[in-house]
Amino acid sequence: MTDERIDAGGGVILRPFRLGDERSLVESANDPEVARFLRDRFPHPYTLEDARGWVEFNRDLRPCCNFAIDVGGAVVGGAGFVFGDDVHRFSAEVGYWLGRAHWGRGIATRVLGAITEYGFERHAMVRLYAGVFEGNEASARVLEKCGYAREGVARKAALKGGKFLDVWQFARVREDLSGL
Ligand SMILES: CC(C)(COP(=O)(O)OP(=O)(O)OC[C@H]1O[C@@H](n2cnc3c(N)ncnc32)[C@H](O)[C@@H]1OP(=O)(O)O)[C@@H](O)C(=O)NCCC(=O)NCCS
Repeated sequence: MTDERIDAGGGVILRPFRLGDERSLVESANDPEVARFLRDRFPHPYTLEDARGWVEFNRDLRPCCNFAIDVGGAVVGGAGFVFGDDVHRFSAEVGYWLGRAHWGRGIATRVLGAITEYGFERHAMVRLYAGVFEGNEASARVLEKCGYAREGVARKAALKGGKFLDVWQFARVREDLSGL
C-alpha cells in the first residue's frame, strides 16, 4: 500500500481522480439506481460538466479523501472519507458507490475492506461509520461483511426523493487504542 494508491485486490485499485477520468466517471455515475441511495450532492443526471468539476476539485487535494475505483484503467465508482474535526477528529464517515454494470461481484466489499484498513492505519482513525438509507440492503450487507456493526436507526433523518427516510447507522471501531 502506498500513500495515495490502495490495492484492494482482484484488479481493483483505489487512486486519486485524474484528468482523463471524466468519460468513464459519467458512464458509471449517470444512473438513477446509483444516485437514489446517495446524498443529493451526488448529481443526477451526472453530466460531463459534473465529472470535470469533480476531477478538478479532487486532483490536487492531499491527502486524498475521495478515491476513484479503478478497474483496468477505467473509473467504475468512487469511495472516500469525510474526516471529523474537534472532538470527532478520530472519526470519519466512509462512503462508496459503484456503477451498476459492476454490481454483485464483491467489488464494494473489497473496496470498503481496503479503505477501512487505510482509514485505521494511514489516518489513525478510531471510528469509521456510515449512514445507510432504509431499504439499501446491499450496502448494509457490504458493511456487515467488512466488520461494521449496526448501531441503530436515525428515524426520518434524510429527505431523499421527496420522502423522509430512516438512516441505518453502522460503525466499526478500533479496539486497540494503544499507540495513539
Ligand atoms: C451498495 C453497492 C456499493 C454494493 O456494491 P457491490 O459491489 O454490488 O457489493 P458486493 O458485491 O461487494 O456485496 C453486495 C452484497 O449485498 C447482497 N445484496 C445485494 N442486493 C441485496 C438485496 N436486495 N438484499 C439483500 N442483500 C443484497 C449481495 O448478495 C452481497 O452479499 P453476499 O456477498 O453475502 O452475497 C452498490 O450496489 C451501489 O453502488 N449502490 C448505489 C450506491 C450506494 O448505495 N452506495 C452506498 C451508500 S451507503
